[in-house]
This record gives sequence, structure tokens and C-alpha cells, in this order.
Amino acid sequence: MKVLVTGGLGYIGSHTVIELIKNNHEVVIIDNLSNSELSVLSVLEKLTNKKLPFYKMDVKDEEIKKVFEEHKIEGIIHFAGYKAVGESVSEPLMYYQNNIGTTLNLVKLALKYKVPKFIFSSSATVYGDQQSPFDETMPRGNTTNPYGETKKINERILEDVAYANKGFNVVLLRYFNPIGAHKSGLIGEKPVGIPNNLMPYITQTAKGIREKLYVFGNDYNTIDGTGVRDYIHVVDLAKGHVKALEYNNKGVDIINLGTGRGTSVLELVTSFEEVNKIKIPYEITNRRPGDIDECYASIDKARKVLKFEAKLTIEDMVRDAWNFEKNLK
Ligand code: WQD
Repeated sequence: MKVLVTGGLGYIGSHTVIELIKNNHEVVIIDNLSNSELSVLSVLEKLTNKKLPFYKMDVKDEEIKKVFEEHKIEGIIHFAGYKAVGESVSEPLMYYQNNIGTTLNLVKLALKYKVPKFIFSSSATVYGDQQSPFDETMPRGNTTNPYGETKKINERILEDVAYANKGFNVVLLRYFNPIGAHKSGLIGEKPVGIPNNLMPYITQTAKGIREKLYVFGNDYNTIDGTGVRDYIHVVDLAKGHVKALEYNNKGVDIINLGTGRGTSVLELVTSFEEVNKIKIPYEITNRRPGDIDECYASIDKARKVLKFEAKLTIEDMVRDAWNFEKNLK
């Protein structure tokens, strides 16, 4: 299938491009490089041994119609979007304009050029503060920040458009916590500035860029008091996208991509230390506003409908995350 990947040079997008090519799909990439680097394109070309059509464009712009004119797009995987929770609180308008503007423009063109399949990067954050395991039949919950709200609104937009347009089929993939990196160590997560997410904060602490990790609260109702999340290796997550693309759905399907297993902050730290033989200094601090005790997936639907199950372990995740970070200049 010829697939348009928006945000294809970003963290999850780049890993997905590799898995798509491995599975004999053709890929066209749009990325505006707002949170990625052009050097990722040459790494992807090297790893896949393919020349990849690339358009440096903003998905909100009319000019992306050129991509649809030049390629017969049969599927779209829409990753492009802003993703920093804290920034979304200080710059809400920027988040709503960008994350919704991109989807609106892309969907308009998808309908015009009769693209039958649309896969959207959603997030477990749309469940809000409900009881884990989160399953897809639960209603969307209350989000605590504009970033999460844009995911929720995009889900609703895509549902409405699919309902009104038979032949426009949507899969909303709700990611849990993607971490890790490609085993080559050449692509991975590279946040700008101080990391918000746990794994890059740990790897930067291991490297000495950060003095210590601040653990946000140890009084949660969890195994050791620290927050529990469902970490999934980014390569497994990428494989889930290939399955979603190849799954012949009609209308809208919502599918979780997680492992179904929860890991606490301290368990992740310990695993990182054991696997990589590096001590991570840490200090317990206050809870971070908006965080919940536990968030992990029900994976029954992914298993049943997509025949997908994550294979890589927490040990693989912490090893590959460090392998990427330690090689970064
Ligand atoms: C994981 C755990 C923290 C950093 C967020 C968004 C979500 C998604 C992914 C992104 C929590 C604790 C973290 C630190 C810590 N969006 N922590 N010290 O909060 O599950 O999800 O990122 O695109 O929408 O909400 O992930 O990695 O930030 O936190 O103790 O320095 O680690 O409290 O328990 P989260 P996270």
C-alpha cells in the first residue's frame, strides 16, 4: 500500500516508516521539522535501503495537496502534532490551531482524493482518570490539559467524518507510554530542552546531563507509591501501526496499543540500573499536577482484531533507550 506518513521524521513516525518498508509498503513522508531533524531522513534511507519521497511542508497548509497530486495515496498515518503537555498549558491556542488544523486539512484532502484508510495517533490520555485497565468501550474522560483535549477533539472529528462518509475508514490508536529506540541506536527520542517524560529524563541523568531524577510522588495507591504506567517499546508500537493499516476495517475502530502491564517509576529506574549497570540518582518530590496513580491498557482488542501483541520487554526498552542516548552527540 502507498502510505502517507505525516510527522514521519519524528520519534514514533520514524520507527513506523521502517516497519512499513519492512512489510513492503511504500512510504511518502511529510514533516515540517518543527520537532525533528532532516538527518533522520538519511538514517531512514540508510536503514531501509530505499529513497524515500519527502516533503518539507506543514500539514495545515494547502500546499500539501501537491503530495496527493503526485502520489496515489491509499492510506494515511497521521503523527504530526505538538506533544508537550506543559507547553500546551502555556500555549493553548498554538496547540488547538496546530493539532486540530493539521487533522482538518488532511481529512479534507483524504476525502477529496478518496483515501480509504486513516490512522490517527491518539493517546491513553483521552481516558482521563478512570480505573485501569483502560478498555476501548470506556467513554472518553476529562482531560487535564490542552494537549490531551486536542487528542479527544481529533478523535471526535474523525468519528463524525467517518460516519458521514462511507468508504473513509478510521483507526484511532491509543498509545500508552512509548519508550526505547531502534536497535541500530540511530533513531530514538530526542526531546528539545529539559525532558518532560520519564525515560528521556532517566537516560539524560545516566549521561550526566541532569544531576538527578525527580520522582513525582511516592504516595500513590500503587505497588511502591510511585506512578504506574504501561510502557511499550516504540518498535512494537510501530508494528502495531502496520497491523492497523493492513486491517480491513469499516467505519471507526478504537484500539489501545500497550502491553497490558504496569511498571512503577522506581521499577523502571531499577531495571535501567540493572540492565545498563549505571546508577540513577533520584529524589522523591511532590506529585506533578494532572498525574494519575495507574494507567495501563486492556490489550484484548488489539490481540483479537489486529492480531497484535507487544513482544519486547522492559529490559529491551531500557537497554535500547540507553543505547540511543549514549551515542547521541
Ligand atoms: C511517567 C511517570 C510521572 C517524569 C505523558 C502524557 C501523555 C503522553 C505521554 C505524549 C509518571 C513520572 C515523570 C519525571 C517522574 N503524551 N515522572 N519524574 O505522564 O504517563 O504521559 O506523556 O506525547 O499524554 O500525559 O508520562 O513519562 O511524563 O510520566 O517521576 O521527571 O513518571 O509522574 O508517573 P505520562 P511521563
